[in-house]
Order: sequence, then structure tokens, then C-alpha cells
Amino acid sequence: MFTWLTLQIIMWPVVSSLEISCPIECDCLVHQSLFINAKVQTVNCSSRDLLEIPSVVPLTTESLLLPGNQFSDLLNNIPFLPRLLELDLSNNLIKQLGRGSIFQNLTKLRFLDLSYNRFRTLLNGVFRGIHKLETLVISAGHLKFIDERVFDDMNNMKHLNLKGNSIHSISAEWFYDVMNLEFLELAHNEVFYLNGETFSAVVHLRHLSLSHNRIRGIHERAFVGLRNLTTLLLDNNYITEVPSVALLSMRSLRVLRLDANPISQLGTGAFTHVPVEEISLSNSTTLQLIDRGSFLDLLSLEKAYLFNNPSLQYVDSHAFINVPQLRVLLLHRNNLSALSHEIVKRRPSVHLTLHGNPLLCNCNVRWIRKALGQGNSSSAVFLDPDKLTCSQTQKLDSISLKSLNLADIPPFCEPVMIGYLNKTINAEIRESQTFACRAFGIPPPKLHWILPSGIVLNESNNNFLTPGKHPGTLTLHHLKPKDSGVYKCVAENNVSVAFKNITLQVKNVDIGLFPQRVSSTFVTVVWNGTARNNFPEYDILYKTDNQPGEEYKTITVSYVHRSYTINNLEPDTNYQFCIAVKDEEEGDYLQLSCAHAQTRDANFIMQGIYTTSKGAIAVVLGIVAGMFLTICMASMVTRKYRHRHYETPEKSLIGNMAHALPENLSSSLMSQDST
Ligand SMILES: *[C@@H]1O[C@H](CO)[C@@H](O)[C@H](O)[C@H]1NC(C)=O
Ligand SMILES: *[C@@H]1O[C@H](CO)[C@@H](O)[C@H](O)[C@H]1NC(C)=O
Ligand SMILES: *[C@@H]1O[C@H](CO)[C@@H](O)[C@H](O)[C@H]1NC(C)=O
Ligand SMILES: *[C@@H]1O[C@H](CO)[C@@H](O)[C@H](O)[C@H]1NC(C)=O
Ligand SMILES: *[C@@H]1O[C@H](CO)[C@@H](O)[C@H](O)[C@H]1NC(C)=O
Ligand SMILES: *[C@@H]1O[C@H](CO)[C@@H](O)[C@H](O)[C@H]1NC(C)=O
Ligand SMILES: *[C@@H]1O[C@H](CO)[C@@H](O)[C@H](O)[C@H]1NC(C)=O
Ligand SMILES: *[C@@H]1O[C@H](CO)[C@@H](O)[C@H](O)[C@H]1NC(C)=O
Ligand SMILES: *[C@@H]1O[C@H](CO)[C@@H](O)[C@H](O)[C@H]1NC(C)=O
Ligand SMILES: *[C@@H]1O[C@H](CO)[C@@H](O)[C@H](O)[C@H]1NC(C)=O
Ligand SMILES: *[C@@H]1O[C@H](CO)[C@@H](O)[C@H](O)[C@H]1NC(C)=O
Repeated sequence: MFTWLTLQIIMWPVVSSLEISCPIECDCLVHQSLFINAKVQTVNCSSRDLLEIPSVVPLTTESLLLPGNQFSDLLNNIPFLPRLLELDLSNNLIKQLGRGSIFQNLTKLRFLDLSYNRFRTLLNGVFRGIHKLETLVISAGHLKFIDERVFDDMNNMKHLNLKGNSIHSISAEWFYDVMNLEFLELAHNEVFYLNGETFSAVVHLRHLSLSHNRIRGIHERAFVGLRNLTTLLLDNNYITEVPSVALLSMRSLRVLRLDANPISQLGTGAFTHVPVEEISLSNSTTLQLIDRGSFLDLLSLEKAYLFNNPSLQYVDSHAFINVPQLRVLLLHRNNLSALSHEIVKRRPSVHLTLHGNPLLCNCNVRWIRKALGQGNSSSAVFLDPDKLTCSQTQKLDSISLKSLNLADIPPFCEPVMIGYLNKTINAEIRESQTFACRAFGIPPPKLHWILPSGIVLNESNNNFLTPGKHPGTLTLHHLKPKDSGVYKCVAENNVSVAFKNITLQVKNVDIGLFPQRVSSTFVTVVWNGTARNNFPEYDILYKTDNQPGEEYKTITVSYVHRSYTINNLEPDTNYQFCIAVKDEEEGDYLQLSCAHAQTRDANFIMQGIYTTSKGAIAVVLGIVAGMFLTICMASMVTRKYRHRHYETPEKSLIGNMAHALPENLSSSLMSQDST
């Protein structure tokens, strides 16, 4: 440091006395820089098809513009320019930047643009020496890998733009030294997960864009430290749920965009206690329901942009609870057949849009018609009054709402269910299913479910409901074939009743277990059908028949196995054997097939093994005949299972270990079998 300073002082009078003229390839001028906001000595060599940077450039140059040339290598190519503040190298063919010798003498540099180049990596040290840099732009490049400490010592950096590269993960280490960063642009990359504490060092960050990435998961602590963040852009990702907990870290957040994400539903508390003024959740093809309390305790929320969601059929009358500042609510081009007046009642003045929705001309549009008549004096001001239409039924032509006669619109009407009224759902065993049932009507309809067994579940006794969920939501966990049947949702008010029927078909499993060889102390059980069901492993459960409270003993077997010999049994005792699959969530077993067998008495010392049933013979023959087929299918099933398992990247990390099991098991099983 010291030597470099003295060197500058010594060199300066010498160099400044030399009159270096403008390179012939370039224009030299004094120019108002947009980036530095001052007039700077500029050498402009833009778009000259140069292969090399001019070697002699006036030493007083403060801005060197070199975009649109053909530089591929910068090593030993950048002239000595002690006053350089601004360097634009965008739109070149730069393939690599090396580890630190390129920019190191540009100690005054404040702005560097390396966009539209070809390099793929940023290695530690590349920016060594340019610690005055305030703005670094590397957009629309091929950047894939960024070393963890590449921005070390760049504590003046305020603006980092890495838009449009191929970055797939963000490392917290990048930011350890750039704690003054205010603007971070990472849109149009391939980021798929936001880890906890990623941004904890950049406490001054105000703007963070992660639009157009592939984010599927956000850690609850992903935004910790972003106390001053005001704008968070998460639109156009693969986010399926609002990251409610993660959002709580940001105490200054004003603008939140979650547009074009595959979120299907907003439930109670999706957004809570965030100081946002503006939330945008538009352009989602999957969003269907906005339930009670989705926007809860948002004391600063003024604008909710919820338009262009072609599947959005329901916004609950109490979707906004304790949102006193709401002034703008855009709901146009959704799939709403009605909107409850409750949403805007008792609010000072809300500006609304609602055109492009399949509104029905029933009692639900009465308040809208009324508001249109009152113009600006209504508490609900429609911004699109002339575009509002409704229809008698969804098939009929729509008519202008304004042209309706208020007196012709009834004050009450029957419940109208949203969505398909008849639906068949095919489910796999052990899956969970959620059925949503919502209805509009005045008075607001009450909902209840009638299960296939005839049991009625309503708000007071629906123990399937998780607290906080809408009463029209029925969630069934750990499905079994016997859960199949018609689930009816009934919406009822004093005008009429409406039904919605969901037929659930839980795939049956065709697995049979039989005792094959029985001795006094061991029983061999055989089974079939396991290869054609997608479980990677099964459990054999057994216990004696005579002690009611007895726990099952369990043995885990792979789907490729067909038999198992259980040792150390009590002679002359009745046993129950079952084949089952483990329900991971419940830690319980789902029994697929069971059989009984009585062990021989103690005198029967393992010589005379007898076969218990004809079924068992058939099974054994079937096993031999089917062996070839089974092996083929086994490999297919493995592949299918793995494919399913790898769909979520986070899960796959955990999944690796579990996959090792089936192969290991087979060896231990073989040794057991031979005893
Ligand atoms: C630099 O030169 C290019 C091409 O001649 C021109 O388009 C651009 O406006 C110039 N920039 C400045 C700052 O003079
Ligand atoms: C930077 O400056 C040092 C000391 O003056 C010199 O040795 C080195 O060659 C320079 N590097 C470049 C890339 O100009
Ligand atoms: C946040 O911003 C306020 C003013 O906007 C400022 O006073 C405060 O120092 C900032 N805090 C951090 C951690 O950047
Ligand atoms: C929604 O999509 C349209 C067309 O794709 C686009 O022009 C618009 O900017 C998007 N709006 C939001 C809020 O994402
Ligand atoms: C819109 O709602 C109707 C019924 O209200 C439904 O039949 C249709 O599938 C919905 N459209 C979309 C895209 O979800
Ligand atoms: C309603 O307000 C808007 C803007 O606030 C104004 O342009 C319009 O003329 C007003 N309409 C009436 C009927 O007062
Ligand atoms: C649903 O089932 C009920 C009774 O079984 C029947 O009355 C009703 O018409 C069905 N609804 C639809 C939409 O099929
Ligand atoms: C629903 O399905 C049942 C039986 O498949 C049928 O009788 C009924 O008409 C259907 N209802 C509607 C509204 O499609
Ligand atoms: C729920 O159903 C039970 C019996 O079916 C009934 O006694 C109760 O009043 C119902 N509760 C509500 C809130 O409808
Ligand atoms: C339905 O209930 C409302 C009050 O909730 C009442 O004003 C209306 O008269 C009732 N209608 C019928 C048909 O009972
Ligand atoms: C298993 O064996 C039993 C008895 O032979 C037979 O009834 C059943 O269909 C078989 N199941 C499969 C899936 O092959």
C-alpha cells in the first residue's frame, strides 16, 4: 500500500507532463457520466470491432468505454490509468478474467460493466485492488460459478447486478465484505433454493430481485438480516406457498411481488405482520382460492394486485382482516363468479377492478350495481365501471352491469358452488387429499361435508379440519382403499341448498400373504403382488394371537423379495402375520394382507414341514414362473420410485441415504433365510 502510494506520487508529475493524444480508434470528450453523476474525461471506443484495447490512452482518462468490441483476453491489456473511475467492457468476447492481475491497478475505479461476455466463472482475487468499486454489472452473461470470497474488500459496493446469468445457488460468503450493498439484482438466473442466513451480512440492502429464477424452496431464515429491505421481487419462480415465516424478518419491506408462481391457495396468515404497502400476486395460472384471513394484520397494506389469475374462483368475504389502509384492490381477469360486499364494507374508500370475471347476475352483484350508481361517493369505487358485465348463467351472454336495474336484483339468493360440481379423484394408498368447497350466496351459506359413511362434518364437529383452515376444506390423510366413495359438500342458506360431489377412488393393492412352511419354531411366509405396487419396501408384522395388547414385531423387506422365514417362534402357538407398509408421517403401519398360522408342537423338530394351503402352492408356483417378469418389473419400479423422489431438490439430499437400503437388505435377508 505504502509503496504504491509513493510510486503514484513520484510518477504523477512525470506522466502528466506527457501529452498523450487520443487513440485514433476512439473519441475523446468530456462527458456527463450517468453512473458517476459528474463530468468525466471520457475515451469512447465503443463498437469499433477492436481486437485489443488501445495501448496508449491519455493518463487523465476517467471513463473508458469499450463496449461492442472483440476483446477475448484482458490479461496485460488494460493500460495504466491511475484516474480511471468508469470502465465499460460490456459486449465483448471475454472468456476469462483470471485471478487478479487484470484490474488490480485501477484503484480508483467506481463503475465496472462486464455484461454480455463469455466468461463462466468469477474466481477469488479477480477484483483485487478495486476496492473503491461501487457498481458492478455482469448481466446477460454465462456466469455459472462465483467463488465464495470473490467480493472480499469491496466494502464500497452498493450496486451488484448479476441479472441474466446461469447462477444456480447464492452463497452467503459472497456478501461477507460487501456489507454496504443496497441493490442486488439476480433476476433471470437458475437459483432453486434460498438457504437460511444467505443475506445476513447485507444489512443495508434495500432492493433484492430474484424474479425469473427457479426457486422452489425458501428457508424460514432466508431473509434474516434484511432489516432495511424495501423491495423484494420473487415473481416468476416455482414457489408453491407464500414464505410467510421468512417474510417476517423484513421490518422495512414495502413492496412484495410473488406474481406468476404456482401458488394454488392462500390460507389464514399467508401474509401476516409484514409492513408491506403493496403485494402483487398476479399472473398465476394455479391460484384458486384466497381464504379467510389470507391478508391478516397488514397494518400498512394499501395495494393488493390480484389480477390475471385465470383459476382464481374465490376470494373470501373475510380475506382481509385488520387491513385498515387498503385503498386499491385489483381483481380483474380472474375467474370470480361473485365478490362479497364484506371485503370493502366499512372501509373508507377502496378502488377496485373486477372486469373480465364471469360474474353471475344474482344477488351478489347488487352492491356492485349500487356502487356504480353512486360513482365517487361510494366507499367502493370501481375503476372499470363500463367494463363490468355479468351473465345469468355461465353459458349465457353477458350484459353490462350498469344497464341492470337495481330494483330487479334480488337481495337474497341461493348458494352457488365454485369449481367442478362433479369430480372424480384417483388417489394412491397412503396419500393425502384435500377437497375444497366454497360457495357464494346471501345470506352467506353454511358448509358441511357428508362422508361416504354418512357421517356429517360441519364447523362444530369437523375434526378433520386443521385449525385456521376454511370450514369448506376437508383433508384426508393416509388414504386407504376403504376411504373410497362419494364425498358430498353441502352449502345451505335459507333460500336453498347446493351440492358438490367428489368421488374418491383409492387404488386397491392386490397383495396377498400366506404361510408356506410351518415348524414348531419357524414359519415361512410367502407373498405376491408387491412388485406391481410402488413401495420400495414392506414390513412383515407378526405377533401371537392370544395376547390382545401385544405389539407387533416387524421385519423390513425389499419389494424384490417374495418370502421370509421367521425364527424363534413359540411352539404350538397361534400367530398372526401381516404384510404392511409404513406410514412415515404417522409412524404407523398400513396392513395390506394378513394370515394366521399355528406353530407345531415342540415334538415336531423341524423334519416334517407341511404346506398349509392350496393358495400357498399357487403362490410358490407363481413365484417361479413370474421370476423373470418380476426382475424386469423390479428395475422399472425402482426407476419410477427414484424419479418421484428426486422431484424436489431438498428432499433428494436426504433421500440418497434411504436409497441405499433395499440392496443392503437383500444380503441380510438371504443369510436369515438360509438358517
Ligand atoms: C460512444 O460511441 C458510440 C458509438 O460511436 C455512441 O453511440 C455513444 O453515444 C458514445 N458515447 C458517448 C458517451 O459519447
Ligand atoms: C500494476 O502496477 C504494478 C506496480 O506499478 C506493476 O508492477 C504491474 O505490472 C501493474 N499491473 C498491471 C496489470 O498493469
Ligand atoms: C436503515 O435505514 C435507515 C434509514 O432509512 C437508516 O437510518 C439505518 O441506519 C438503516 N439500517 C441499516 C441496518 O442499514
Ligand atoms: C403479467 O403477464 C403479462 C403478459 O405476460 C405481462 O405483460 C405483465 O407484466 C405481467 N404482470 C405482472 C404483474 O407480472
Ligand atoms: C373457472 O370457473 C369455472 C366454474 O366457475 C370452471 O368450470 C373453470 O374450470 C374455471 N377456469 C379455470 C381456468 O380454472
Ligand atoms: C371520480 O374521481 C375521478 C378521479 O379521482 C375523476 O376523474 C372523476 O371525474 C370522478 N367522477 C365523478 C363522477 O365525480
Ligand atoms: C350429488 O349427490 C346428491 C345426492 O346423492 C345428488 O342429489 C346431487 O344431484 C349430486 N350433485 C351433483 C352435482 O351431481
Ligand atoms: C354428476 O355425476 C353423476 C353420476 O356420474 C350424474 O348423474 C350427474 O348428472 C352429474 N352431475 C353434474 C352436474 O354433472
Ligand atoms: C353440525 O352437525 C350437528 C349434527 O349433525 C348439529 O347438531 C350441529 O348443530 C351442526 N353444527 C353446525 C354449526 O351446523
Ligand atoms: C333469509 O334470512 C335473511 C336474514 O339473514 C332474511 O332477511 C330473509 O327474509 C330470509 N329469507 C327467507 C326466505 O327466509
Ligand atoms: C396372489 O395369489 C393369490 C392366491 O393364489 C391370488 O388369488 C391373487 O390373485 C394373487 N395376486 C396377485 C397380485 O398375483
